[in-house]
Amino acid sequence: MTAPILALRGVNKSFGPIDVLHDITLEVQAGQVLCLLGDNGAGKSTLIKIMSGVHQPTSGVIEIDGVPVGLPTPRAAAENGIATVHQFGGTFPLMSIGRSFFVGVEPTKGWGPFKIYDRKRANDIAVKAVRDFGITRIDDGDRLVGGLSGGERQSLAIARAVHFGARVLILDEPTAALGVKQATHVLRIVNEAKKRGLAVVFITHQVMHAMAVGDHFAVLIRGAVAADFHKGEKSREEITDLMAGGASMASLEAEIEGYMASHDGHPPPPTH
Ligand SMILES: Nc1ncnc2c1ncn2[C@@H]1O[C@H](COP(=O)(O)OP(=O)(O)OP(=O)(O)O)[C@@H](O)[C@H]1O
Ligand SMILES: [Mg+2]
Repeated sequence: MTAPILALRGVNKSFGPIDVLHDITLEVQAGQVLCLLGDNGAGKSTLIKIMSGVHQPTSGVIEIDGVPVGLPTPRAAAENGIATVHQFGGTFPLMSIGRSFFVGVEPTKGWGPFKIYDRKRANDIAVKAVRDFGITRIDDGDRLVGGLSGGERQSLAIARAVHFGARVLILDEPTAALGVKQATHVLRIVNEAKKRGLAVVFITHQVMHAMAVGDHFAVLIRGAVAADFHKGEKSREEITDLMAGGASMASLEAEIEGYMASHDGHPPPPTH
């Protein structure tokens, strides 16, 4: 069996005295979508920031193709083929589609013609890349990104990552702010990226979105992997319960802690 494209082994992360991630072991396979589920504050964003070189693990190992690596910066992650699309698509509203497509692509990396920005060529390449993903409503690279819908912006960011050779695509809640139709569009593009052999890490709060694209699921509860399973192994109800179960456990504990703090350390009496 080939090694996973990206793996975390026993990763811990603390910010000063605050332990945010505990002993995370996860594998991301080519041609598969890994859904990261979990309530607010569970540690999902922190985990993907470790995968994308924004944060360093306090301990534990990151592997790429089975080889331990360091990802000291977002650039190092990008050079290893890891692309992260943030919630609002990582695009710039006042830039044209063509220009935003090539932002941050260093001319020294084989993009000679772009040392002097070639508007027409940039537009042609950007529009083609986006249309190849089935977004046929985009046909003019001069249009401003700010005029695109949320789903189109997400799609543009994903097409861009794929065009520049990403092998791992990390999406932090790409469907959170979208209506049903737009979200469906983004889910379709996630499936297309997967068909092209990319590994996708997909964060969502919506169980239906996760089930529509996920091959592999990991549920984080307070910084630990509480469940790790594959498509078909759990029903929608079970997944929802797992997510909600973590949340209600967390709030119950906070309630008990609050009670104890104001009652000389005594736990609340049992209710019947
Ligand atoms: N730089 C930081 N310093 C201290 N604590 C942090 C830092 N970043 C995150 N945390 C804490 O780590 C925990 C996990 O945060 P994180 O943003 O990873 O959660 P999340 O699962 O992405 O939540 P959400 O679903 O709300 O986006 C939170 O309690 C948060 O306050
Ligand atoms: Mg988050």
